[in-house]
Amino acid sequence: MAKLTLKDLDLKNKTVLVRADFNVPQDASLNITDDTRIRSTIPTLKYILEQGAKKLVIISHLGRPDGKVAAKYSLKPVAARLKELLGENVLFLSDCVGDIIKQDIDKSKEKVILLENLRYHAEEEANDAGFAKSLATLADVFVNDAFGTAHRAHASTEGVTHFLKSAAGLLLEKEIKYLGGAVSNPAKPFMVILGGAKVTDKIGVIEYLLPKCDAIIVGGGMAYTFLKAQGKQIGNSRLEKEKLEIAKSILDKAKQLNKEILLPIDHVVVDNIDANAKIEIVGENIPDGKIAVDIGPKTIKLFEEKLKSAKTIVWNGPLGIFEMDAFSKGTREVAEFIANLKTISIIGGGDTAAAIAKFKLEDKMTHISTGGGASLEFLEGKTLPGVAALTEA
Ligand code: 3PG
Repeated sequence: MAKLTLKDLDLKNKTVLVRADFNVPQDASLNITDDTRIRSTIPTLKYILEQGAKKLVIISHLGRPDGKVAAKYSLKPVAARLKELLGENVLFLSDCVGDIIKQDIDKSKEKVILLENLRYHAEEEANDAGFAKSLATLADVFVNDAFGTAHRAHASTEGVTHFLKSAAGLLLEKEIKYLGGAVSNPAKPFMVILGGAKVTDKIGVIEYLLPKCDAIIVGGGMAYTFLKAQGKQIGNSRLEKEKLEIAKSILDKAKQLNKEILLPIDHVVVDNIDANAKIEIVGENIPDGKIAVDIGPKTIKLFEEKLKSAKTIVWNGPLGIFEMDAFSKGTREVAEFIANLKTISIIGGGDTAAAIAKFKLEDKMTHISTGGGASLEFLEGKTLPGVAALTEA
């Protein structure tokens, strides 16, 4: 990495400010339902403590409280989980800037301190220089481990780096290593699987990766706009009419570049999207009134046949409505197939990571990104402001 990383820093007796992405899902009673993002930051936090840091001050956002204090966006439940996972007491403070917070940090008996949600202050998302400076005054050095928020130029990801020496944490470094390696120097054949609801969300990724990869496999809701562009019947399946021309031009571009785009050849269809709906398997053309909710068995075979020779697979977006068990077979079977391949498998964050977790295949993949939007922007070839702002090595 061309940027400073954690291991370049002398942390002894330093107060270290760590930007984490503890934006974790919670249920209605505010219980954390998936603590992957907290777990993923633990190696960085442990390393800092082992190096003899004086204090470890952690900052994060949770949700989108839009600059206002709201109990449901408090990081307090995260402090409790962090204590369990880190095996250290964690002092939770009810704000993230100001003299009182600074004094509380200085006199804290606990080494590890978690500050309240950055986004209770509108200045965070506005990347306000004064707010960034106030964050910087809390510590001697800054470590960004929030890969999930690295695509945001906020005070705690970008602004603060103007005031402190700033390094990438171990998680951020790992994400860049795997995602960056996959796009800049992939072991070939390099195959990309794209799914999810909308073509709109994936156009940038297709444009950036089509010239670099050997094949793109498309499933999920986005496949139907491509199938329609090919003149197929798609029934009542999801269609983005205004993206038909783009879908056509992507298919033409693939032909010119001699790259394959594989689309579903059969489908699981229903009359209504309902977990208990009666399902039917239909061939290439979807009859009027039917809605495709998953790829069919022939498509699963087609995709697996293609994937079996891959040396690198990047996967972003589920292949059906995997959240409903009846429509999860395509995503599950392809995931299980990849899990048993000897290949580099890079899974984008967000829904794809949630699908892999649902199928309990996390340990079988090379890397599962903790960033949804961030991994997507990275796979579009965009510069992530939170990474670009770190101190040059
Ligand atoms: C995420 O969950 O993708 C990150 O935490 C960023 O959150 P945001 O989209 O609210 O900026």
